[in-house]
Amino acid sequence: MASQELLNKLNDALNREVSTFLRYMLQGASIKGAEWEPVRQMYLAEVADEVGHAQYLASKIVMLGGTPSLNPDLTPPPTDVKTMLQNDIAEEQTDVAGYTKLAELAEAEGLVDLKMTMEDQAADEAGHAELMLRLLG
Ligand SMILES: [Fe+2]
Ligand SMILES: [Fe+2]
Repeated sequence: MASQELLNKLNDALNREVSTFLRYMLQGASIKGAEWEPVRQMYLAEVADEVGHAQYLASKIVMLGGTPSLNPDLTPPPTDVKTMLQNDIAEEQTDVAGYTKLAELAEAEGLVDLKMTMEDQAADEAGHAELMLRLLG
């Protein structure tokens, strides 16, 4: 079992992931132009990473005694590609901080497997931010 604080933070992370993969799916669908094709392909590829993060979190919430609750942010994404990248770099960096905090909480509650997966997901998000920084130029 886990504390209510940890369950709430896992559910917040789940909603951030669902919001992210919906946004990346739309951005991957909407970007046009040969110069931005690598950015479009990056968003399409990252949808699967974020879905995987969301699936892990939803399953873990249940196994720790909670109930996943979805309330994603459905704000339409920007149309300008550089603005997309700038916004998403900031969001990915927020996720790195969030997963680092979740890893600390998990360790404090003796949930070693959760701690390690939160660190893995922090590293995934750091990798996404780094790739986006490179594409931004
Ligand atoms: Fe993610
Ligand atoms: Fe990410």
